[in-house]
Amino acid sequence: MKQEEANKFETPDQGYILGIDTSCDETSLALLGKETGLVLENLISSQIEIHSQYGGVIPELASRKHSENLAALFEELLTRSQISVTDIVGVAATHTPGLIGCLLVGTAFAKALAYRLNVPLYAIHHLEAHLFSPFINSKPEFPFLGLVVSGGHTAFYDVESFDGITLIGQSVDDAAGEAFDKTAKLMGLGYPGGPVIDKLAQQGNTQKFPFTIPKVKMGEQYLSFSGLKTAVHHYVQKISSLDEQVQKDLAASLQYTIVEILIQKTKSFLKKKNYKSFALSGGVAMNSLLRERVAEMENEIGISTHMAKPEYCTDNAAMIAYLAQHREPLAHPFDLETLPTQKIQARQIKRKGSNSP
Ligand code: KG4
Ligand code: ZN
Repeated sequence: MKQEEANKFETPDQGYILGIDTSCDETSLALLGKETGLVLENLISSQIEIHSQYGGVIPELASRKHSENLAALFEELLTRSQISVTDIVGVAATHTPGLIGCLLVGTAFAKALAYRLNVPLYAIHHLEAHLFSPFINSKPEFPFLGLVVSGGHTAFYDVESFDGITLIGQSVDDAAGEAFDKTAKLMGLGYPGGPVIDKLAQQGNTQKFPFTIPKVKMGEQYLSFSGLKTAVHHYVQKISSLDEQVQKDLAASLQYTIVEILIQKTKSFLKKKNYKSFALSGGVAMNSLLRERVAEMENEIGISTHMAKPEYCTDNAAMIAYLAQHREPLAHPFDLETLPTQKIQARQIKRKGSNSP
C-alpha cells in the first residue's frame, strides 16, 4: 500500500491544507493533514509529452494547459481522497519563482478558493518548498545543509529553522539540470535530458571523456556548469559518428563530472559548520549516481543524509502544502502576489519570520 493510501486510513485528520504548484510544466495538487502533517494525496499532471516535441518548455502552452487541467484535477483530488471541499482548512500556492503565466493560473485559483471557503492562504516560494521536501511526512534535523538541484537552480542553503534560510552558494551560470538537458540536446537525445543520460550512463565508461571540474574565480561558494556544454559540443563535432557506445560513454563521463562537482562542493560546505544533516532535493536529486554518492557520505563523513523521495523530487504540490504547515498565512487572500522570476542574486538572502521571498 502506498504511504498516501496508508495515511488515509490511519490518521483521522480534522482538516487539510490544499497545496497547488503550477510553476512550470507540471500541474500538481496535494492534500496534507493540518494536524498530522501527513500527505493524503499528491496528484501530478505532467505536460512533458507536449513540450518534449519542442525540445523544451513553451511557456504560453504551459500556462494554457494549467488552466485547462486545474479544475478537473481538483475534482479528481476530491473524488480520490473522499473528502469534502469544506474539509480544506487552508490553501497554499507557489507564487515564485516560475513561469509567470503559469504561476498566475495557480495563484488565481488559490485566491478564489481561499476567499470562497474563507480559509487562510499561504504564499510559498517554490525553491524553499523543494528545500524541505526531503522531510515530507517527517521532521527536519536543524541546522541542515540543503542542496536544491533542479532544471532552473543549483543552490546551497544553510537552514536553521523553517524561516531561517540563508543562501550560501549557487551556480553562476547553468543549473545542474540545464547541464543535463542542454548536453542531451547536443547529443541528439530527448527532453528532459537528465533521465535519458542517467539511463545511458549505466552502461558507459565514466573515464572515457575527461571533462574538467571548473574553478570559479568569483569565490569558492560558487559552481559552474556552462563549460560542460562547450566541451560536449567540441566532442560531438570531433567524433565522426555518435554511435550507441559513444553516447553511453559520453553520458557516463558527463554525469560523473556533474555529480563530482556537486559532491565536492557539498563536502566543502559540510566542513564549514557543524550541521546535523544534509538534505538533497529537486529534479536532479532523482539521479541514481548522485543518490549513491550522497548515501555514501553517511559512512564517509558521518553526516545524516536525507533525500527527497522520487515522487517529491520533481515538481509537486505536497512540498508546497508541507511548507505552508510551518508558515504564517497571508493577512488576506487578496494579498497574494505572483512574483516574476529573478535570477538569485550573488548575495546572501536571509529570511527570518517573513512570508515573502
Ligand atoms: O525540479 P524539476 O522538476 O523542475 C524545475 O523546477 O526545474 O527538475 C527538472 C530537472 C530537469 O532538468 C531534468 O533533466 C532533471 O530535473 N532530472 C534529472 C533526472 N530526472 C530529472 N537529472 C538527472 N538525472 C535524473 N534521473
Ligand atoms: Zn521545481
